[in-house]
Amino acid sequence: MSAKIIDGKAFAANVRAQVAAHVARLKEVNGLTPGLAVVLVGEDPASQVYVKNKGIQTREVGMNSYEHKLSAETSEADLLALIAKLNADPAVHGILVQLPLPKHLDSDLVINSIDPAKDVDGFHISNVGLLGTGQKAMVPCTPLGCLMMLRDHLGSLSGLNAVVVGRSNIVGKPMAQLLLGDSCTVTIAHSRTKDLAEVCRRADILVAAVGRPEMIPGDWVKPGATVIDVGINRIERDGKGKLVGDVHFESAVAVAGAITPVPGGVGPMTIACLLANTLTACCRAHG
Ligand code: GUN
Repeated sequence: MSAKIIDGKAFAANVRAQVAAHVARLKEVNGLTPGLAVVLVGEDPASQVYVKNKGIQTREVGMNSYEHKLSAETSEADLLALIAKLNADPAVHGILVQLPLPKHLDSDLVINSIDPAKDVDGFHISNVGLLGTGQKAMVPCTPLGCLMMLRDHLGSLSGLNAVVVGRSNIVGKPMAQLLLGDSCTVTIAHSRTKDLAEVCRRADILVAAVGRPEMIPGDWVKPGATVIDVGINRIERDGKGKLVGDVHFESAVAVAGAITPVPGGVGPMTIACLLANTLTACCRAHG
């Protein structure tokens, strides 16, 4: 039997349509337009593509997009001064500093200088603490997108065994917190985990977020499990460039109950959730 393919592209389009409808109402009824500021430091090609797509989709849902592109040599003081300006700007409801930052900049310091109420990435230490204690937080976009797809496919997640492979601050750790919040029994596995295959085989929900192409084969997947593949890895195959996930799709699709493809699974949900977070930040800022 072949798994159901979870269509993240369609799901994300639906989220964006809902955000756009809400933005239109905010404008009409309250005269408000949510604004998202994106800060890019340097010329990393992948980051440039992400930032461009964020700008396009922000405008498409009727929000204001403010892009700040700074040279790779920007000083920490100049970057912190820009963030202070954005923190104080009432037209800016969300601030995102694209990661990774050039090596000479302290990412933790920079992220923690963002007003937590405008931290639409959910990376500020206050939001991390709020999420970890089950309080109202800004939730990181990629794990939020994963959770939305899991709830849509499974309904209640209560009591399910969830295994998150990867312990990054951006995906693995917040994903685990969200699954715990939905009453899953959660394991965070990583590169030092003993017998990773066995740990994965216990998962009713398997979230792969390691950034290693096709690392998880189908025989690590429990029959009927829901597999969420966060990886987006560019590889060369048959002389051509190809995007693959952290899961070996062809073998996993034969075993899983449902699986997200790469591309077209988790990826599109990240920006959709960023827009949803910006809308939330705007609504909270205006009571
Ligand atoms: N770089 C890769 N993913 C992300 C993300 O979700 N937010 C930011 N700010 N940078 C990233």
